[in-house]
Amino acid sequence: MLFQPPLPAKYLAMTDADLAAQIERHRARFGERLVILGHHYQQDDVIRFADFTGDSLKLSQIAAAQDAAEFVVFCGVHFMAESADILTDDRVQVFLPDLSAGCSMADMAAYDQVEEAWDFLTAATSATIVPITYVNSAANIKAFCGLRGGACCTSSNAAKVLAWALAHGSKVLFLPDQHLGRNTAYALGHPLDTMVVYDPAEPDGGLTAEQVRDAQFILWKGHCSVHQLFTATQCDALRAQEPDRTILVHPECAWEVVQKADLAGSTEFIIHTVEHAPAGSKWAIGTEVHLVNRLAKAHPDKDIRSLSPIQCLCTTMYRISPPHLLWCLDALAAGHPVNRIQVLPTVRDGALMALQRMLDNVSATPVAVAGSTA
Ligand code: 13P
Ligand code: SF4
Repeated sequence: MLFQPPLPAKYLAMTDADLAAQIERHRARFGERLVILGHHYQQDDVIRFADFTGDSLKLSQIAAAQDAAEFVVFCGVHFMAESADILTDDRVQVFLPDLSAGCSMADMAAYDQVEEAWDFLTAATSATIVPITYVNSAANIKAFCGLRGGACCTSSNAAKVLAWALAHGSKVLFLPDQHLGRNTAYALGHPLDTMVVYDPAEPDGGLTAEQVRDAQFILWKGHCSVHQLFTATQCDALRAQEPDRTILVHPECAWEVVQKADLAGSTEFIIHTVEHAPAGSKWAIGTEVHLVNRLAKAHPDKDIRSLSPIQCLCTTMYRISPPHLLWCLDALAAGHPVNRIQVLPTVRDGALMALQRMLDNVSATPVAVAGSTA
């Protein structure tokens, strides 16, 4: 984790109204030179300042399209700010208001571990393996994939990218989220026995060379600490109590949960589905709590609640707060910026290759990873 210095005490002593007024003053003064991006899991107190909101894919596309901006302040997590830095040209500076806003899933695939896995897998089989990394990964992992003929994907286009990978090789190494890999491959018609899990904590990932040769998908043993909190038992309990409530989950949830759900898809898919649902419809949603609460507030004519009775919160995303945002903007305005995210030039080109292949495989509207809206 990167070191985030404690904020000067004055920021913590400010009222909400003062923080908001000063942030808005910066936005007005910077004008088009500044773009604030907010991921949908961000808290309301922060997302109200965002010029654009979106899921990982949409925010990557928005970052890539910035012509007028000089500064992008990313209210998301570290890998998202890295992607924005890679996708914008050199005159755009990208900032993350709190450096401790990382992603536990991205941290589950370290470069050395991936290199070791690749050596083992490529020695075990002569088949072409295409490495695909979920965009929720460090820039050096993206570069690793890009330089070996692979690509990034997001939960919005994982199916398209997996199909692309299988047109370029006969096996896929899917990093770092085993669940998104399994759910997507299964929805494309590949049975579970075509998949094995590579555990970086085990010698040779806990696999034999024969298992690698027999498998089509090698899934990295990583997960999202938020989405793993949704369980098949919660789905069963809900079905028993309220059979008329539709269960809609993110594909970072475990396969068993996705199988029990009515629908699964990316954050953008979840929003799209709820927005287009009829008044009076009832939803149990398996994703980050800030988004679920925001959807419930935005659609009072629909009955929306979390699938889980406990708070499923992305604690790292939550570290970005209005005091951090103001501290970052004050520093920028004073000409001594803090928390700039700069991907090393040696990593950038390979990572850009992987991200570009991701952006080349995008659907016009958000699609389900499992289930159907028809
Ligand atoms: P998407 O933004 O691709 O839906 O992913 C969700 C997530 O966990 C972001 O970190
Ligand atoms: Fe990472 Fe999960 Fe948080 Fe997304 S929700 S940033 S995958 S920990």
